[in-house]
Amino acid sequence: MLDLRLFLPKRVPLPLIAVGCLLVVGSWVPLALILHYTQVFHERPRIHLFQDMDNQPKLKAQAASPIFNDGRAMRQPVPGTIARGRLAAAAGGPAQTGRLAGHGGHDAPPAFVTGFPDGVRVDDFFLARGQETFNTFCYPCHGQAGHGDGPVNQRATALQLGDSALSYGTSWSPAANLNQVENGALLFGEAAYPNGQLFDVITHGKNTMAGYGHAIPVQDRWAIVAYVRALQLSQAPEAATAAMDAADQNATPKTAAR
Ligand code: HEC
Repeated sequence: MLDLRLFLPKRVPLPLIAVGCLLVVGSWVPLALILHYTQVFHERPRIHLFQDMDNQPKLKAQAASPIFNDGRAMRQPVPGTIARGRLAAAAGGPAQTGRLAGHGGHDAPPAFVTGFPDGVRVDDFFLARGQETFNTFCYPCHGQAGHGDGPVNQRATALQLGDSALSYGTSWSPAANLNQVENGALLFGEAAYPNGQLFDVITHGKNTMAGYGHAIPVQDRWAIVAYVRALQLSQAPEAATAAMDAADQNATPKTAAR
């Protein structure tokens, strides 16, 4: 019988073993590379076998670009551009801006609407709407009755007084007390602070307070104005009544309709 062992080499040659080992170890390299690239962050995008659109040449917002003279990638809208839905506000009637047309300008302080503009009827429904909107947008800082003591204000003040590390190096300017009386007069009452000015502050903000014109429709802003007046009447009745009387006397007939 044929002895098969005759065909086996007595010893496997050393170079062959070495090559075998190299091949085995070498076969781990692609695996290791794949593992590496799945775990480690790389600046360069991954290799796209099929081009999808998450990697494409484009200019990102705030980036620089040599294409344009001003070196900015972001372009300004064409002068006179009006955002969708803002046409009425851009047209700028008193009911839309709280400012009287033809007054003010770059040098002169703007003249504000007194009373409420045409088309705004202050009734129970309107006041209820004002209350709801005030409680949504103003209460967090100015408090339920407008004393500037809302929960955000309280929290920010507490953080400021306590562990200063918690305020992350920022400082909080307190929300205004909308019922503040000084020398018997309401600081933000109708005499010193016409309805149109209140509307304007809601729209554009003031100093550290942001504007809410983007979030609160025009009619609801007037409803908040009406509700703030109601709050002032309830919180500082004498000063508020005096302010309303004074405002009525100063008012131009057209805008004094209340
Ligand atoms: C995130 C907090 C915050 C919210 C929300 C907020 N305010 Fe204010 N408000 C402030 C602060 C802070 C000031 C003081 C701004 C300053 O003078 O630095 C202020 C000031 C004011 C003033 C006085 C402005 C002046 O001329 O001095 C009025 C009026 C006012 N807010 C009304 C409102 C109304 C109405 C709303 C709801 C639509 C509202 N605020 C929502 C924080 C807020």
